[in-house]
Amino acid sequence: MTDLVQTAREGGVTRITLARPDKKNALTGAMYEAMMAAFREAEADEGVGAILIAGSGGAFTAGNDIGDFLAFASQPGAAPPFRFVRALASLEKPLVAAVEGVAVGIGTTLLLHCDLAFAAPTARFRMPFVDLGLVPEAGSSLLLPQRVGHAKAAELLMLAEGFDAAEALRLGLVNAVVPADALAAHAMDRARALAAKPRAAMLATRRLLRGDRAALMAAIDAEAEAFGRALASEEARAAFMAFLSRPKAAAR
Ligand code: COA
Repeated sequence: MTDLVQTAREGGVTRITLARPDKKNALTGAMYEAMMAAFREAEADEGVGAILIAGSGGAFTAGNDIGDFLAFASQPGAAPPFRFVRALASLEKPLVAAVEGVAVGIGTTLLLHCDLAFAAPTARFRMPFVDLGLVPEAGSSLLLPQRVGHAKAAELLMLAEGFDAAEALRLGLVNAVVPADALAAHAMDRARALAAKPRAAMLATRRLLRGDRAALMAAIDAEAEAFGRALASEEARAAFMAFLSRPKAAAR
């Protein structure tokens, strides 16, 4: 499928590693497909009690591959990112994230679906949807105000400025800030602890904590419709082209 997402079983945990470090783990369609396949396998495997998602090369993910956005514009609803978001919101098993370096777009909104998240001091979060001519996704228009309050959610989604690990901790987007060299082991330890608990009680607890899934799915549908329209807009196209025509990193 793609080797840019690596999946491994460690005890009762499925570890998903985003492995496109030269592009800060920006997510292509094939990478979303691979993550969805890993979710499906983990959900079906009785030996798996938790899923851990991490980046590589000092980055979590720079979000959706901007070149791919142009390709999705023709049929957005069926495109992998939209299906991925629904798969994420439908997960039954606990999800843990380990965030190092950049966490942009879905790299930040994905945390709203995690049960536990840990960040290295290097973590930098940003939801630049509006700057790209886009709208929030992954249910973040519902989940972010619930998590951080309307005022902060509006600031983060409308001013779209970045924030660091300490701020993510203050906002309750992550559980702890962990030194970079201890992050992977700490997140795995916590995921294993979740996986070792009585399974049915864990899944029921997760379902209760997450609350009304219908409301979340309705928010995701409304976002997808607005996102699809935005993707085809001139302002989005101009923003994508501005990014894609930047000088190469080596020349900047
Ligand atoms: N899509 C496609 N390529 C991306 C990418 C993305 N979302 N994010 C980074 N890359 C590529 C860069 O083009 C660069 O490629 P190059 O080496 O061929 O020039 C490489 O990854 C490294 O990125 P670079 O920008 O040099 O790293 P940086 O540390 O200076 O900045 C970011 C990192 C994430 C802040 C910056 O790359 C960025 O803003 N990316 C876009 C993020 C975004 O808007 N995502 C969509 C959210 S909805």
